Amino acid sequence: MAEFLAILDFGSQYTQLIARRVRENRVYCEILPHGTTVEDLKKRQLKGIILSGGPSGVYEEQAPRCDERIFSLGVPVLGICYGMQLGCEILGAKVIPARHREYGETVLDLAGSGDDLFHGLKSRIKAWMSHGDRVDDVGGDFQVLARTQNCPYAAVAHSRTRFYGVQFHPEVTHTPEGGAIINNFLYRICQCTGDWTLSGFIDDQVKKIRKEVGRERVVCALSGGVDSSVVALLLHRALGSQLICVFVDNGLLRQGEKEQVEATFREHFHLNFHLVVASSRFLQALKGVTDPETKRIRIGHEFIEVFRDATRKFEGVRYLAQGTLYPDTIESRSPFGGPSAVIKSHHNVGGLPEKLGFELVEPLKFLFKDEVRNLGRELGLPDEIIQRQPFPGPGLAIRVIGEVTAERLKVLREADAIVQEEIRALDLHRNLWQSFAILLPVRTVGVMGDRRTYDAVIALRIVESTDGMTANWVFLPSEVLTRIANRICNEVVGVNRVVLDISSKPPSTIEWE
Ligand code: XMP
Repeated sequence: MAEFLAILDFGSQYTQLIARRVRENRVYCEILPHGTTVEDLKKRQLKGIILSGGPSGVYEEQAPRCDERIFSLGVPVLGICYGMQLGCEILGAKVIPARHREYGETVLDLAGSGDDLFHGLKSRIKAWMSHGDRVDDVGGDFQVLARTQNCPYAAVAHSRTRFYGVQFHPEVTHTPEGGAIINNFLYRICQCTGDWTLSGFIDDQVKKIRKEVGRERVVCALSGGVDSSVVALLLHRALGSQLICVFVDNGLLRQGEKEQVEATFREHFHLNFHLVVASSRFLQALKGVTDPETKRIRIGHEFIEVFRDATRKFEGVRYLAQGTLYPDTIESRSPFGGPSAVIKSHHNVGGLPEKLGFELVEPLKFLFKDEVRNLGRELGLPDEIIQRQPFPGPGLAIRVIGEVTAERLKVLREADAIVQEEIRALDLHRNLWQSFAILLPVRTVGVMGDRRTYDAVIALRIVESTDGMTANWVFLPSEVLTRIANRICNEVVGVNRVVLDISSKPPSTIEWE
């Protein structure tokens, strides 16, 4: 059993970041509900606990609390912000609303505490604060480790229970020494050994999948994106030909995409690969549709139908493998909710298992995206797939604005291929979240070789982002933009104008539909 660090979630927007920082230090951790009991915690090889921050005040009536027995488990506990206030309050200190609310950067005076938590750091460091309440008075069991101008107890330790509290956020990059502080907590205080590695994860998962699945068959909807590709390779390693991969060509893919996926998974990795060509079914379902949500919904339904028809042919399939990642699991489970407003319906394989009566296998559900990429590398996945930009489930249909027809898809596909080619040629794609073409539902007048034209307009969407939740448009060098625009107008029949989308998200979204 691998060593384990528990993060109890009190609703901070930074809780996932804490988990990222811990994992970066090769210590396996999970985010658990704040009320998780010590009986549950004791089932793991628990090395320590972190209490996250949160929006509440400790004295509010509905304030979330933890099982107070965690302080007698004998493992160190680190409370961050709200977690500090809660821990201090439980251990007898006084917490009050701060007279001076402190937000943003501040300077911590470590007062030569010499404590392990700040081992190796200078006596004054920058730290990021974001709090209203603060600890006001601590009893004799506490030792003060750091203060700021407004906050006499910016970091404290309670030696008997090995509780540490920090009022600032070591998990954010605005606390430059935060990584070292978390490293000190894990290695100097919790005595972790750092046994969390991806090759160990693969071995564990392979054993677990074999045990769970036995001799049954598993089907996997392979899209060619990073997540489903990694799931497919991991399951293939565990189950060989018991895994059936279904790749649906919905006719809404980019140029060369089907060929690339087929070459990788059928020819290179020798997976049990089934191509389902269903472009005409999808086109039929989209006939006459111009409303973006209707497009998404129709494509989602059609996918389920196509997948159902395809899997009926295989005997004895009991499981469906899905590339659910950790952030999806946390957000759907968190009592504090994730960014929940539905702006657009996402139709990937969501809803498939219930509708088809499969049981789920989700081997990535405790991993973050960059861990999945590293796992892909470890499993030998080619760089083109690992570094692939996100591509939406409804594909080019939501980039053909207006009605989706075979002819309009062809125009967009050719224009988009030019964008991809030029951006890849300069190796720019790695630094961009997405770069793609959109076909607009207007025609404009142009002139080509003395002839008047009346043709379609292509828009370019080039953005940078870290998670797709917000995004900035990127201004590529004008030579690159000029080359892309010239090539599109010259090479794509039916286009005589190219425009650049210079809106960020918000208020715009990345995709146009
Ligand atoms: P928006 O357009 O909402 O997109 O700013 C944010 C990110 O999500 C991608 N996206 C999708 N991904 N299925 C997906 O897997 C979908 O239905 C879908 N719609 C949008 C989009 O490409 C961007 O990266």
